[in-house]
Amino acid sequence: MITAGPTYERIDPVRYIGNFSSGKMGFTLAEAFVEQGAEITLITGPVNRELPTGNINRIDVESAEEMLSRVQEYFQSADIFVMSAAVADYKPAQTAKQKIKKKSENWSLEMIPNADILKEVTIDKRPEQLVIGFALETSYELNNAREKLQRKNLDIIILNSLNDQGAGLASDNNKVTIITPNDKKDLPLKSKKEIAHDIVDYIVHTKKRDHEN
Ligand code: CTP
Repeated sequence: MITAGPTYERIDPVRYIGNFSSGKMGFTLAEAFVEQGAEITLITGPVNRELPTGNINRIDVESAEEMLSRVQEYFQSADIFVMSAAVADYKPAQTAKQKIKKKSENWSLEMIPNADILKEVTIDKRPEQLVIGFALETSYELNNAREKLQRKNLDIIILNSLNDQGAGLASDNNKVTIITPNDKKDLPLKSKKEIAHDIVDYIVHTKKRDHEN
C-alpha cells in the first residue's frame, strides 16, 4: 500500500487548505514496485496524474480524514506500507455550508489538528509488516527524522531536506537519506524515478533479510 499527493481540507464549498505536493514520489514508487511484481493499492490525494500501467488499485481521496479511513481499511492486508502523502496537519474547525462572503475587516480561520495517519495505524503493526515514512525537514534534519522514526513506529524513514538546492516537493529531483534504527544511507541528488528505484531496492533487500532471519 502506498499513499501519495496532498490532502485538501475544505473551508467552504469553493475553498480549501492544501499544499504543493505533486504526488510524483508516490506514483513513481508505485511504478517501481510494479516492476518488482508487486500488487499495489495506491491511495492518493487530489493530483493531476495518469495511473501507471500494472497491477494497481487506485483509490482517490480528498481530505486527511478520508485518507485515514482508507488506509485503515487496507493496512492489515499490506505487507509493505509506504506513506508518502503530504497530509495536512490541520483542518478548519468548521466547513461552511455556504460560500463565505467577503467583508472589509480581517478574518481568522480556526484550525484543529488532523489525526497522524502513520501513528494511528502502526499501533496495530504486525512484526513482519514493513512501514516506511517520509520526513520533510528544514532544520535539525537527522535528529528530527530519527525522532519521527521512533515516534511513528516505523522501520524506515526517508529524509527529504528542503535545504538542498534543486530538490523538494514539486521538483523532479530530490536528495534523500534512508534511515533505519541502525543504518543511514545518503543518496546523491537524483531524479525521483532513480530515487524510487533505490528505495524499492532497499525495501526489497530489507524484506528478504528479515525473511531469512
Ligand atoms: N504523516 C501522517 N499523518 C499526518 C502527518 C504526516 O501519516 N497527519 C506522515 C507523512 O506522510 C510522513 C510522516 O508522517 O510519512 C512525516 O511527515 P512530516 O510532515 O515530516 O511530519 P509531521 O508528523 O507532520 O511533523 P512536523 O510537521 O512537526 O514536522
